[in-house]
Amino acid sequence: MDTIIQLTYLLSAILFVVGLKRLQSPATARKGNSLAALAMLLAVIATVLDTQILDWTWILVGVVLGGVIGGTAARLVEMTAMPELVGIFNAFGGGASALVAIAEFLATPGVGASTTGVTILLGTLIGSVTFTGSFIAFAKLQGLITGNPITFPLQNIFNALLFLAAISLGAMTLGVFGSGDPQTLFYVFCGLALILGVLLVIPIGGADMPVVVSLLNSYSGLAASAAGFVIGNTVLIISGALVGASGLILTQLMCKGMNRSLANVAFGGFGGTAGVDRSEIGQRPVQSADAEGVAAELGYVNSVVVVPGYGLAVAQSQHELRKVGDLLEERGVDVKYAIHPVAGRMPGHMNVLLAEADVSYDKLYDLDEINDDFGNTDVVLVVGANDVVNPAARDPQSVITGMPILDVDRARRVIVMKRSLSPGFAGIDNDLFYMDKTLMFFGDAKESMAELVREVRELA
Ligand code: TAP
Repeated sequence: MDTIIQLTYLLSAILFVVGLKRLQSPATARKGNSLAALAMLLAVIATVLDTQILDWTWILVGVVLGGVIGGTAARLVEMTAMPELVGIFNAFGGGASALVAIAEFLATPGVGASTTGVTILLGTLIGSVTFTGSFIAFAKLQGLITGNPITFPLQNIFNALLFLAAISLGAMTLGVFGSGDPQTLFYVFCGLALILGVLLVIPIGGADMPVVVSLLNSYSGLAASAAGFVIGNTVLIISGALVGASGLILTQLMCKGMNRSLANVAFGGFGGTAGVDRSEIGQRPVQSADAEGVAAELGYVNSVVVVPGYGLAVAQSQHELRKVGDLLEERGVDVKYAIHPVAGRMPGHMNVLLAEADVSYDKLYDLDEINDDFGNTDVVLVVGANDVVNPAARDPQSVITGMPILDVDRARRVIVMKRSLSPGFAGIDNDLFYMDKTLMFFGDAKESMAELVREVRELA
């Protein structure tokens, strides 16, 4: 039986790696996800075959409870609230790993300064930090607590001292130095780790939360990996390491998309809009057009580049957008879609939306691929995007300075679809809206896009 279990673990580890590889491209991503889910199922089956772990009643209760909660949450969640859901899942992942490590500590009193002892402490520390940190990230995203950075004097030094205190307590728990009851020391260690999770996330502003969620996702993987070492479970070690590594790569990609370093996100107290004067936003005159006017702008040109953003996801107007694209192509217009790496609220957000509407992948262009083309583009249609096309990123004084943007202001004509002149996630005004070449097409993107479909159809 042990050989069967180990072979099943090996098979699921291979499937995890293949599944991850397939997530690299939108065309194979769904298959990749299913493969990884299958791998997890195999791992769970192999684990429950090992009957020494727990009795079946507890396992069934866990499967039913977890399945119902997970399934319902995944079905009910809005696409735009995905970072919140991932945040909560990370919290439970980290918490579960911490509990495994804590249970192992309680089961092996006097574990001492051994490899097991160190991995127990690592699993507890990383898992607990992930647990409370993820709940704070969730509360910030959900608006339950302020999205602005919560800071106090000497915060980073205080956090560093707290971290050192936790490490020292951990060493004392394992009897490396000092004296005291290991169990009591361990409980204080757990408490410090939980507080550290809160303190590490509160100074980070709401706009950076998706990056933090991705980083905490990586931590939850590392905690799972440590838990795997604690209980000697190979597949937990491998899958945890994969989550840890891929979470870190994703975090780096997001930081690159915003031209920020990870240290700046973690310690910069950036991403809030507390100090920004919002009274001037949207006060300047703009030119606007209705669906008929926009259809006329789009229907008689050679090239149109569509820039989707968060508003497309809110309005769920991707299907109407595809219809407009198809109709324009039938008229001989070259239609491309420009994808900014941090458009929307999660990595790949726009790719997922457009894939759902069956927009062909070869029409999607990344920022680097398309930015030089804007100078030769007749019309750019911005659909619910704001920060990712904000020329303020080129201004050294702006809060989004240095963020790579899609240079849509270099096109001959820009049409922006959104409901008002309200700012985007960064909370700042956008000069693009006030340019002579820009036409604002106000309204909910779903209704506006449906009108646009009708008007483009009626063009001569
Ligand atoms: P945003 O700058 O957030 O702007 C979205 C715009 O959509 C808003 O200005 C809003 O204007 C409009 N909108 C909302 N609902 C709409 C509706 N129903 N119909 C039409 N328009 C609607 O979006 P973006 O350009 O995609 O930029 C993403 C932002 O998120 C960036 O600041 C980025 O740094 C941040 N961020 C993203 C990620 C990832 S991974 N994607 C991670 C971290 C941070 P109205 O209210 O006037 O309609």
